[in-house]
Amino acid sequence: VLSRVALRVNGQRYDKEVDTRTTLLDLLREHLHLTGTKKGCDQGQCGACTVIADGRRINSCLSLALMHEGADITTIEGLGTPDKLHPLQAAFVKHDGYQCGYCTPGQICSATAMLDEVRRGIPSHVTGDLNARPLLSPMEMRERMSGNICRCGAYSNIIEAIADVAG
Ligand code: FES
Repeated sequence: VLSRVALRVNGQRYDKEVDTRTTLLDLLREHLHLTGTKKGCDQGQCGACTVIADGRRINSCLSLALMHEGADITTIEGLGTPDKLHPLQAAFVKHDGYQCGYCTPGQICSATAMLDEVRRGIPSHVTGDLNARPLLSPMEMRERMSGNICRCGAYSNIIEAIADVAG
């Protein structure tokens, strides 16, 4: 069954006819040709497909495109450009926050939204209310980034990069 979905991705408006079973991930990659968002497990376990939907990080492989009618989606392509990197992109380069790089777009989208969550005072279910503490400890960052798996094991450098931006 086909249906139309209209949404904004990285500030650009799209109106597409898709199979109702199309995931947001496949809409981005196959229909909009935004291949920066990666498909790893395709079942919500690795975080490679993380994008920001209306300010919240989600696994785009677990979400149907039609659920995002009218939504505002940000992918890695919307965060920075080769000439003007997003601060987290620059920090990942500076701290070697990757090896193969496959998980990196998801890591950076997730970290971007995670730092926004912290600034908005959304508490971690593990660490409690962070309102009084603007800074996250490395352990708190690891917990908040635990949905993003790096099979190369570059976690220490990833956390260093995020910490650099978090200040
Ligand atoms: Fe979506 Fe792994 S591809 S969580």
